[in-house]
Amino acid sequence: MSPQSAILLLHRGTGAVLAAFICLHLVNHVLLAIDPALAFGFMDRFRQVYRQPAVEAVLLLAVLLQLLGGAALARRGGALPARISGYYLLFFLLVHVTAVLWGRLGMGLDTDIRFAAAGLRSWPSIAFFAPYYFLAVLAVCFHVGLGVSRHAGARARTVTLAAGTVGLLMGTAIVGGMLALA
Ligand code: HEM
Ligand code: HEM
Repeated sequence: MSPQSAILLLHRGTGAVLAAFICLHLVNHVLLAIDPALAFGFMDRFRQVYRQPAVEAVLLLAVLLQLLGGAALARRGGALPARISGYYLLFFLLVHVTAVLWGRLGMGLDTDIRFAAAGLRSWPSIAFFAPYYFLAVLAVCFHVGLGVSRHAGARARTVTLAAGTVGLLMGTAIVGGMLALA
């Protein structure tokens, strides 16, 4: 097996672990637009799972491997849309996960949804944080959709379009919910 195929296989595997977390993470944030109490209740229960040290260690290791593997894949090739969405995820995840860990461990804050929504409270930080979150949701849905579409044969285009549409709708709902909370 070539190094490129091995990295792609790893990226697919760690991508599946991460995608499971991200899916629930984003559903959690979409709930904010429906009923904030529901979103906070969901986070309380979801935290009991992913905040267990072993689970969190696996999650953070998956993020690290995804960033390193993804960067290696993008340097050696890959379709342009996969590289563009991948590079945005690289930027977002580095900033996002560092901010969350620094907020929690460095500053002793409760890094719940209010922590994330704080950036949308005032000008000029809102001009950065609204597109920053919106594009992250769009990029992750589109990027995973592109990956799945490679194995979807004649339905490839439909899968990519559907994933992009889900990203647009979820991104709008999440940023809308965060603005209402802020
Ligand atoms: C777009 C709206 C998003 C918001 C508002 C948001 C908010 C948050 C918050 C508040 C936390 C801290 C959770 C806690 O303290 O228990 C967190 C953690 C995290 N988020 Fe996000 N997130 C968003 C999108 C994403 C996306 C798109 C990804 C991945 C591509 C992602 C990956 C992660 C990861 C890996 C963690 C660390 C979990 C941990 O080990 O504590 N997030 N996010
Ligand atoms: C939330 C994080 C990420 C997830 C869930 C994810 C998931 C995936 C999936 C499922 C594939 C398709 C694999 C296949 O063909 O079976 C893929 C491909 C790819 N990813 Fe990621 N990825 C993530 C982050 C990144 C990052 C940070 C980069 C860095 C630029 C990146 C770059 C790429 C590239 C270039 C490909 C295409 C590889 C090729 O066609 O040869 N990904 N990704």
